[in-house]
Amino acid sequence: MEAHQYPKGTKTVSQSRTEVTRTVFYQDINGFNRLFGGRLMEWIDEAAGIAARRHCGSTITTACVDQLEFKHAVHLDDDVVIIAKVTYVGRTSLEVRVDSYVEEYDTRERNLINTAFLTEVCIDENGKATPIEYGLELEGDDERTEWESATKRLIFRKTRKAEGF
Ligand SMILES: CC(C)(COP(=O)(O)OP(=O)(O)OC[C@H]1O[C@@H](n2cnc3c(N)ncnc32)[C@H](O)[C@@H]1OP(=O)(O)O)[C@@H](O)C(=O)NCCC(=O)NCCS
Repeated sequence: MEAHQYPKGTKTVSQSRTEVTRTVFYQDINGFNRLFGGRLMEWIDEAAGIAARRHCGSTITTACVDQLEFKHAVHLDDDVVIIAKVTYVGRTSLEVRVDSYVEEYDTRERNLINTAFLTEVCIDENGKATPIEYGLELEGDDERTEWESATKRLIFRKTRKAEGF
């Protein structure tokens, strides 16, 4: 993987980590009283965008969303916790992992409902991809493992794009 220069140094994962909690209201549910999948996608995209912007310190846009698998139903009045963390920083793009949970409001026990990986691209005032000025400082084995996994996902995305599927 080619090395990039980051003129402003590095930021840690925790510096851009974003946690958002949403309560499911009537306008968020479908005809079966379950959270509308598109609403969760919106919340995930928003959290990933905030984390990416915090890391880059400038404007970003979402280029790609991978893996939206809905593991459990979410119902009216549930609290949904969405946690976004930067996993990998490239030249102009970065990957953000977003884990979503239903949280039991008494015990605060969390049940994972979705994990998504979003590619965000740093853009200039003309909307063109522009270099990210901060690298990612990895702290601990989990963050190093996540970076390694992200490089595999990056290769997979490039293969997918090259082969047109
Ligand atoms: C994202 C966008 C700026 C990228 O422009 P582009 O001309 O493809 O730019 P490049 O080919 O130079 O790629 C820029 C970076 O994005 C990455 N990238 C581009 N398309 C990608 C995709 N589909 N999936 C994953 N990464 C992608 C490239 O790998 C590159 O990363 P790197 O610099 O870290 O190596 C452009 O496609 C765009 O504006 N898309 C619309 C985004 C938008 O409006 N999103 C909101 C939801 S509708």
